[in-house]
Amino acid sequence: MTAVIDTAATNTPATNTPATDTDVIDRRPISTRTAVELRGVGKVFGRGADGVTALTGVDLRVEPGEFVVLLGASGCGKTTLLNLVAGLDRPGAGTVTVHSGRPAVMFQEPALLPWLDAGRNVELPLRLSGMGRAARRERAGELLDLVRLGGQARKRPHELSGGMRQRVALARAIAATSSGAGSDSGGGLLLMDEPFAALDAITRDFLQGELQRIWRTTGTAVLFVTHDVREAVRLGQRVVLLSSRPGTVVREWDVADDTDRAQLTDEITARLREVISTHARA
Ligand SMILES: Nc1ncnc2c1ncn2[C@@H]1O[C@H](COP(=O)(O)OP(=O)(O)OP(=O)(O)O)[C@@H](O)[C@H]1O
Ligand SMILES: [Mg+2]
Repeated sequence: MTAVIDTAATNTPATNTPATDTDVIDRRPISTRTAVELRGVGKVFGRGADGVTALTGVDLRVEPGEFVVLLGASGCGKTTLLNLVAGLDRPGAGTVTVHSGRPAVMFQEPALLPWLDAGRNVELPLRLSGMGRAARRERAGELLDLVRLGGQARKRPHELSGGMRQRVALARAIAATSSGAGSDSGGGLLLMDEPFAALDAITRDFLQGELQRIWRTTGTAVLFVTHDVREAVRLGQRVVLLSSRPGTVVREWDVADDTDRAQLTDEITARLREVISTHARA
């Protein structure tokens, strides 16, 4: 499915368009294929003197299968940007184009349905996509194994720890990415808004490792939001720094396998501090 969210478009959110098999196939040449493209995106909340400009002139691309981390200070518009890509909100200027099926979103809080057990929470996006009962039960089992929660499928959210709940949410998000576009159409898109921020350091470290492993296994594109530079450098193939409000892209760094991550962390931290202090003086 190719969803273009344009300010000139009608009020019907493009993400409501039913995905059919033909929608999924992007017939443009591979070189021009992207998972997500934002061009000149702006967003203002409210009007006139009370209006808050959250984003201005944001240009960003995410390639299929790429892991991009969006880094920025609190309040710079990261969640706003993710909501635009998720189709939960519309830009005030520019265009947001998503070429990868309906994106899956993972928030800071796990947002599981408390009356469903872990397995059925994971099954939910599969059920919504019309997968039959036996197939989705099997797939949910595989995904729970993937996040190392095999054997916990019948537990309800309140019986799990915070880190385990976040792992169920991760399994559900992966179920949603693969049920929308089909994993053979170049992978889906996973949008993550500081998903590990509320966790203790050890659980966070563990889940960062799990996410990396799962990303390599599934080939999904990831757009991951954080304000933690170390997390950004550890996870991202590319780190995109947003300025303080109004958010706009200040700089990007590629993170290669042989990059000195400690040095890059220092460099990005210095730049982030600069961005924050420039904003404080403005
Ligand atoms: N629905 C809304 N109505 C009015 N203002 C909003 C709304 N959503 C966000 N804002 C404002 O837009 C700005 C950006 O908010 P956003 O939540 O995108 O920041 P953020 O970068 O995600 O911050 P954090 O790291 O703290 O989560 C903030 O000034 C916020 O107050
Ligand atoms: Mg936020």
